[in-house]
Amino acid sequence: MKNKFITAVICSAVALIGLNQSVAIAQRNINQEVEKYRPAFHFTPKAHWMNDPNGMVYYNGTYHLFFQYHPGGTTWGPMHWGHAVSNDLFNWLEKPIALYPDSLGAIFSGSAVIDKDNTAGFGKNAMVAIFTHHNQKIENAKTGLHQYQSIAYSNDEGNTWTKYKGNPVLPNPGITDFRDPKVMWFEQGKKWIMTLATKDRITFYSSPNLKQWTKESDFGATQGAHGGVWECPDLFTLTVNGKKVWVLLVSINPGGPNGGSATQYFTGSFNGHEFVADSKEEKWIDYGTDNYAGVTWSNTGDRRIFLGWMNNWLYANQVPTVAWRGATTVPRELSLSEQNGRLLISSLPVKELSAFLEKPSMLSLGKGSTQNRKTAKIPSGKPFELTLETKDLSSFSISLLSSGSDKVIFGYDKVHNRFFIDRRNAGDTSFNKEFSAVHYGPRISKSSSISMKVLIDAASIEVFADNGTCVMTDIFFPKKPINSLEVLTNKGSGLKTLKYLPLKRIN
Ligand code: FRU
Repeated sequence: MKNKFITAVICSAVALIGLNQSVAIAQRNINQEVEKYRPAFHFTPKAHWMNDPNGMVYYNGTYHLFFQYHPGGTTWGPMHWGHAVSNDLFNWLEKPIALYPDSLGAIFSGSAVIDKDNTAGFGKNAMVAIFTHHNQKIENAKTGLHQYQSIAYSNDEGNTWTKYKGNPVLPNPGITDFRDPKVMWFEQGKKWIMTLATKDRITFYSSPNLKQWTKESDFGATQGAHGGVWECPDLFTLTVNGKKVWVLLVSINPGGPNGGSATQYFTGSFNGHEFVADSKEEKWIDYGTDNYAGVTWSNTGDRRIFLGWMNNWLYANQVPTVAWRGATTVPRELSLSEQNGRLLISSLPVKELSAFLEKPSMLSLGKGSTQNRKTAKIPSGKPFELTLETKDLSSFSISLLSSGSDKVIFGYDKVHNRFFIDRRNAGDTSFNKEFSAVHYGPRISKSSSISMKVLIDAASIEVFADNGTCVMTDIFFPKKPINSLEVLTNKGSGLKTLKYLPLKRIN
């Protein structure tokens, strides 16, 4: 009897362990399924919706990233500012929400500065956020006056915030789209400059104290791309050939070179009052479809570090992630170069990325069906960087294959002298009819071979061609993780090198 009892207890314990184990395994599988698109080295909020990066400011060795956040769901909704911090631009710690909607409205995009000289009177080195209040009631009343600029400050490095009592600091003058202030200190004029998106142009304002703002000028009503509304600008300098050049970034939605949202830029001069562009051509910071509303960190000295929202308003609310929606691009360092008389921005992943690269290997491409089609196995589902150099200037493509015929293809098309990403067969494209497409980016460099750095995460590809003079960022949703490559080159040409560098999983 006693033995039977013991046996029964042991049996049920074993059954229980077995059950627990299978529940744990099932749970893990569900989690893996739920989390299969969670990036390994790009920032995402733990849960809920995120769009634009906001208030990016560097202070006391910490990069602050605020972001458009809807804690009530996984689609866009009443906007808050989420907050995350990092010392290395890759390991992010998500903090409590920084700014909540209030009686003036929801908290739309904006920027943050360190007020070193206490111009606003909030304290020396106060962190001051300058953002758009968006008032839904006023929008419903259709007066067009529902967006205005407000400020908030923090004296404890962004942990707690106080909204200024005199908000809004810049009321709406009668412009429906009146938003996304990016503020910088203009040393020559000893004043703050606000660069604001005002429907189809940029308006510059100045202030001695972040509280009183005076209009300086407008730019762009007849320049640049105008397929959609102008949003999320940024104004800063970059140095080329020892000369400082002003750069103005302007996000536009829709009207991007491959449809939907994208970010154009102008180079030129700014004298504290007016921006004058040095050319009429359209230039884009990224030719892929998934780099939007990107701006640069403030207070980083001579470094210009850019971060975008890796998404597109065409389908952002429908992408098939589960617990969260929206990731950022890899942080990129911007520089300026002169190419055939044109001033062009190059973007490359920040040097901090190299700390997460594991031992590189030259890919040995096994024999394929023809001389020019070669394949290589890679560790399944591991994020990686590919760097390559071609022997000459012929067309080539590289397919990143997951299960069955699912693949995302990128490469160079010599006939049209352009780069491309083809995500038509890249996995789940069913959630929006605009998603399944091939995207193109022009080749600008005149050098006789092509170099590329390509970053692959669970659901994204970022191509930096010719030293970052043509960049393409696309998201995609493979049903199974990527586990091999197929390289296709023309007879007699090919790749000089193809290096595979696994990346450590950070998230
Ligand atoms: C850009 C944008 C901004 C606005 C914010 C609202 O993606 O439309 O213009 O401030 O998103 O979430």
